[in-house]
Amino acid sequence: SVPSLASSDEFLQCLREKIPSELVYGQSSSNFTDVLVSSIKNPKFFTNATVKPVCIVTPSDASHVQAAVLCGRKLNVRLRVRSGGHDYEGLSYRSACPYEVFGVVDLAKLRAVSVNQSESTAWVGSGATIGELYYAIAKNNSQVAFPAGECPTIGVGGHFSGGGVGMIMRKHGLSIDKVVDAKLVNANGELLDRAGMGEDLFWAIRGGGGGSFGVVLSWKVQLVQVPPTVTVFSIGKTLEQGAIDILTKWQDVGPSLPSDLNLKVKVQGQEALFMALYLGTCSSLVSTMGEQLPELNMTSADCRSMTWLESAALSFTDMSSTGTVEDALLSRAPSMSIFTKGKSDYVRRAISKDAWKSIFSWFAMNGSGLIMLEPHGGFMDTVPAAATPYPHRCGVLYVIQYIVFWQGDGGAPATTWLAKFYDFMGHHVSKKPRQAYVNFRDLDIGQNPAVVDGNVSTFESGKAWGERYFMSNYQRLASVKAAVDPTDYFRNEQSVPPLLHGS
Ligand code: FDA
Repeated sequence: SVPSLASSDEFLQCLREKIPSELVYGQSSSNFTDVLVSSIKNPKFFTNATVKPVCIVTPSDASHVQAAVLCGRKLNVRLRVRSGGHDYEGLSYRSACPYEVFGVVDLAKLRAVSVNQSESTAWVGSGATIGELYYAIAKNNSQVAFPAGECPTIGVGGHFSGGGVGMIMRKHGLSIDKVVDAKLVNANGELLDRAGMGEDLFWAIRGGGGGSFGVVLSWKVQLVQVPPTVTVFSIGKTLEQGAIDILTKWQDVGPSLPSDLNLKVKVQGQEALFMALYLGTCSSLVSTMGEQLPELNMTSADCRSMTWLESAALSFTDMSSTGTVEDALLSRAPSMSIFTKGKSDYVRRAISKDAWKSIFSWFAMNGSGLIMLEPHGGFMDTVPAAATPYPHRCGVLYVIQYIVFWQGDGGAPATTWLAKFYDFMGHHVSKKPRQAYVNFRDLDIGQNPAVVDGNVSTFESGKAWGERYFMSNYQRLASVKAAVDPTDYFRNEQSVPPLLHGS
């Protein structure tokens, strides 16, 4: 049945009986909007038409999350979980269904990072940002690092749930490859660690996408070793400077470079910007680049040496920021000025030079955005596709992230450009299925039916997008879902449906 507004009043009452009232914000609370927008990144999902939660809970203790799940189950009100709010489709705090009555559990207060130096591990709360994680582990030890993404305000909770692609993945893998334990509240309100949840559920939460299997409160991660000094560079090449030839060659070179070196590329306008992080010194980087991609003409004048932590503070800014590490990694200032839409692809066979010429012509068009190309290979090739739900391992050359930006109401040229360009790119990227990355969430590739009129999400209906994100891991994810949440309580537009007997 569809939860009514009456049940949402009872839901609030239930929450207020079990959770300190200052942690529960109903729509009529004076701070409701402030709390709602505190981590919204995309103003597209904060309009009058946006379907907003009936309340937000900001737990400061695991027991509050358990209480919220029990109230939600009892009163038939679904919960969405938010950690850093960076979901590209806003699924952590808004619904695409106009009739959905739901609450949000916002984990921003559960963000402690506690480091065990002798084990070289840390427990990190889902509400921490990856910038906070980086800072906590490496501020006093320049040789400790963690593989995760490149924007410091991303939340650990959603990021780890989907994988965690970043600058040291070719050496150390994705974030999920270094998660060794976790604490989760399941659909029955039970608090479980790895031993309690069992290996199937522990497998599913490391890459199966957020919002499907429960509320992950914290993660135990294995930290990794890096040299005290790393080297970065950033070199732009225009068409006249040979961008197309270098990019064409990069497609095979990037994924086969030594795993200490990550050379990613941003294409925007008529330029390709090559950005590198090398876990080593400038002189050996110059010699590697001279052997592998001499066309880039990289010299020691391009090198910038720094700690890994400093490089993490730079990596989201084309390696060019000038602020302090603390400003870059710890700021949580809300920023809601830029509207975006993202999509993703994986490339398994290098795209031809002629095709790159056509691709560059797209970047001269009105509404054009950017693409970021991140090479796989190295450690990524060593992980079997079924070891975690993230299946895009051996054989993948690189992942493409497409992003368009706009301000105010002027989104049509950008979104039209993206849709057409993405169609065009279909000829050049992975096929059957056309792979996509769940952390670059994209509802265009399919979604569960709206939660009305007894609609259920089925394994079959989810295949359209599920097999693109997870390939053959989709079926195991759906089986785990059936075992741990058979009534599909944790459900959203792209949650994994339960593979029930006979469905
Ligand atoms: P958010 O809180 O919106 O959650 C995302 C999804 O996970 C939602 O469905 C939510 O319900 C669910 N969820 C959140 N917390 C949960 C929890 N504790 N338990 C269970 N489910 C939970 N990715 C990448 O791999 N590498 C990168 O470099 C980048 N860079 C990047 C830059 C920018 C500007 C953006 C906006 C995004 C990225 N991403 C990325 C994508 C990012 O990894 C992805 O959006 C993550 O899901 C964001 O996690 P948050 O916790 O911030 O999102």
